[in-house]
Amino acid sequence: MVKIAIIGYGYWGKNLVRNFFSLPHCTLYTVADADPKRLQSLKSLYPGLNSTSDIESIFKNPEIDAVVIATPVFTHYTLAKKALLAGKHVLVEKPMTASVKEAEELIELAQKKSKLLMVDHTFLYTGAVERIKHMIEAGEVGKINYIDSTRINLGLFQADVNVLWDLAPHDVSICFHLTKDLPYSVQARGISHTKNGIENIAYLTLNYQTSLIAHFNCSWSSPVKIRQMLIGGDRKMILYNDMEPTEKVKVYDTGFEVNSHEDRTKIIVDYRIGDIYTPKLQTNEALTGMAGDFVNAILSETEPVSNWKIGLKVVKVLEGASVSIKAKGKEVTL
Ligand SMILES: NC(=O)c1ccc[n+]([C@@H]2O[C@H](COP(=O)([O-])OP(=O)(O)OC[C@H]3O[C@@H](n4cnc5c(N)ncnc54)[C@H](O)[C@@H]3O)[C@@H](O)[C@H]2O)c1
Repeated sequence: MVKIAIIGYGYWGKNLVRNFFSLPHCTLYTVADADPKRLQSLKSLYPGLNSTSDIESIFKNPEIDAVVIATPVFTHYTLAKKALLAGKHVLVEKPMTASVKEAEELIELAQKKSKLLMVDHTFLYTGAVERIKHMIEAGEVGKINYIDSTRINLGLFQADVNVLWDLAPHDVSICFHLTKDLPYSVQARGISHTKNGIENIAYLTLNYQTSLIAHFNCSWSSPVKIRQMLIGGDRKMILYNDMEPTEKVKVYDTGFEVNSHEDRTKIIVDYRIGDIYTPKLQTNEALTGMAGDFVNAILSETEPVSNWKIGLKVVKVLEGASVSIKAKGKEVTL
């Protein structure tokens, strides 16, 4: 049994508590939050569960094997570092840290202490992403030419991070999970409609040396909620609409072939518009899969799907995007 402490009982911490509470092979030992008022609602839902607002007691307790961190991004590094130094395995919420330097330091520390450091990129555990990955690996989709994602709604304006740090970790982690290619540069534009200069609308492009291009549109300022990703392969094209209750993935047997004209000055594009089908997906809660992967990775000493490598790549993209936004969309080499 892995004894777990969760730090942060806010919006996402509640979901983590619910999942770890009923997960096999682990015991939810305690829940901590700096705000004692947050822990009052925990008491009414889980009367027998320990809770504390003394965060340091978590690190000092030798009974606790692993710490799950669900606090704001700017606190991730400090809390994860304390947990690793105290010899605990760590699961940290996305994005791993607020900078590449912090992420690299945590990775080095985890390796030195032989402890697991994992990042919660929840979407990697959804039935939709699992199925799309399977189709790509089976060669059904062909060579991926583009990934184009829209993640917009009237979202909660965050005080510490811009909209890309809040929403793009989902899209960027999916992108890295689905393709083996690595971007060599990023470009981003964004705008802040608040007085604090934190962008609430942003557009991010990942540039690759291959034929792939990836683009993400993130916003907290849209009247409609859209969670949509297009994955364009040269054999099939996929529409992943996370707002659809059941038919989240649609596979289009659509494509085009470019041929050069006899006089070589023109090109001829032949289109193929075929069937559309909806694959059956696993409907298990993604967070249950993620929590189970964390516990299993500790017990079996294996690498989880949402490992620190993907966590680091996401932070590198976000850091590059922040530099690019401040330089009005300048290309930033990764
Ligand atoms: N994986 C996902 O899909 C997903 C979804 C939402 C949020 N998140 C991530 O979860 C994290 C938390 O986001 P949230 O929306 O739950 O925020 P939140 O503000 O609702 O909750 C954060 C909680 O942490 C507590 N806290 C803050 N600083 C603390 C500290 N130093 N020590 C102990 N407790 C502290 C606060 O009192 C609060 O209860 C963020 O990193 C966010 O990116 C992930």
